[in-house]
Amino acid sequence: MAQATFHFPRGFLWGTATASHQVEGDNTNNTWWAWEQEPGRIIDDHKSGRACDWWGGRWKEDFDRAAEAGQNAHRLSIEWSRLQPTPDRWDESSLDYYREMIQGLHERNMQPMVTLHHFSDPLWLAERGGWDNEAVVGYFEAYVRRVVEALKEYVDLWVTLNEPNGYITGGYVFGIWPPGKQDLGAAMRVMTNQVRAHAAAYKVIHSLQPGAQVGIAPNLRPMLPARRWSPLDRLVTTLQSNAFNEAFPRALHTGKLSFLTLRKNLPEVRGTQDFVGINYYSRDYVAFSPLKPAELFGRRFYHPEAELSSSGFIANEPRGLFDLVKWGLHFGLPIMITENGIEDAGDDLRRRYLIQHLHQLWRAVNFNLPVKGYFHWTLVDNFEWERGWTQRFGLWELDVETQVRRKRPSADLYAEICQTNGVSAEMVARFAPGLFPGMFPNF
Ligand code: FCB
Repeated sequence: MAQATFHFPRGFLWGTATASHQVEGDNTNNTWWAWEQEPGRIIDDHKSGRACDWWGGRWKEDFDRAAEAGQNAHRLSIEWSRLQPTPDRWDESSLDYYREMIQGLHERNMQPMVTLHHFSDPLWLAERGGWDNEAVVGYFEAYVRRVVEALKEYVDLWVTLNEPNGYITGGYVFGIWPPGKQDLGAAMRVMTNQVRAHAAAYKVIHSLQPGAQVGIAPNLRPMLPARRWSPLDRLVTTLQSNAFNEAFPRALHTGKLSFLTLRKNLPEVRGTQDFVGINYYSRDYVAFSPLKPAELFGRRFYHPEAELSSSGFIANEPRGLFDLVKWGLHFGLPIMITENGIEDAGDDLRRRYLIQHLHQLWRAVNFNLPVKGYFHWTLVDNFEWERGWTQRFGLWELDVETQVRRKRPSADLYAEICQTNGVSAEMVARFAPGLFPGMFPNF
């Protein structure tokens, strides 16, 4: 049998990623909680409820699990609505609690990466027009200042915004997330405000903590023309990819925002990234369709032969991760895989998905592409937005009622990867034997 091992660089960060609203529970003062109370918004009217009960203290046992499983980093997010429950009040006790959580990571030898905004907004902000009101730039800046002043001793890695492109698509294009709009004009204003808010946050963080590393975690979905020979397919593929994938990161790189019909010079946002974050789940094929004006006349679908997750939400397309890392190279910055994972309650596909994606990441590393870390989504099953509890992304399974966690086999696989800083042929043979011949031909 092949004895190969795919090694990662020394000091590589191995962790999982989580988000406040999805794990904490009882986030009653934010837009998602309100959204969940409206019938029909969430599959089967599921509610986040107690979620994974982190606010009740269960982060401790989950961090213990992560640490015992060899993870040396963790990405979590701060809930703005807890810190600033009303525009004129800062809740110091919740800041203290986050400090305790983050110290809890250090005590377990895990490096924190902290996200400042992961989809949920304070209700008071929504009442003032949310991200469609340009005042949000100042509000966000003030909130970020507060957090960084309190936590800078403990955190070097910051993510300002999680998936601003997903936030805009869900909330302002398809209307399936709060605030439930289908309004491209608003989408363009929100994009402008998010780009500016990011840059303002970047500057505040660096003024308080010059050595910090700051980035965003965009949702990146490589897109391929359904029929390569078709100029129309190629055109709509480029249009969609520009709008969804490229617009935001490119604005931070060049200071020029080009999104849908919007063209704006924003010189102050230029160069406001210290690393390139990549949330990668899957890639799409795009075909021209006159029936899809809101999607820039592109119909997106998965490759018909790709292996799909249980609900069809994700296609297992590991090569997309390699292509993205290569794409990330043109920014000339370190690269972090800020999210990657799959919903799979039965934990059969997850083992293959994990090995195949890490194999592609290892290939990238071997081309000397500067990948510094990988955060798997996610540690324990959590509340998955409009999909509620129907999708199970955890390395640990959660019984939402009893809050009991049960380890899935992938948790053991990931633990071995983290502990040895690599993926070995022997692990592949044990956890996903079907992959062996393809990964180690001629052995
Ligand atoms: C990403 C989100 C994250 C989680 C995963 C499955 O788009 O950032 O919160 O829902 O998808």
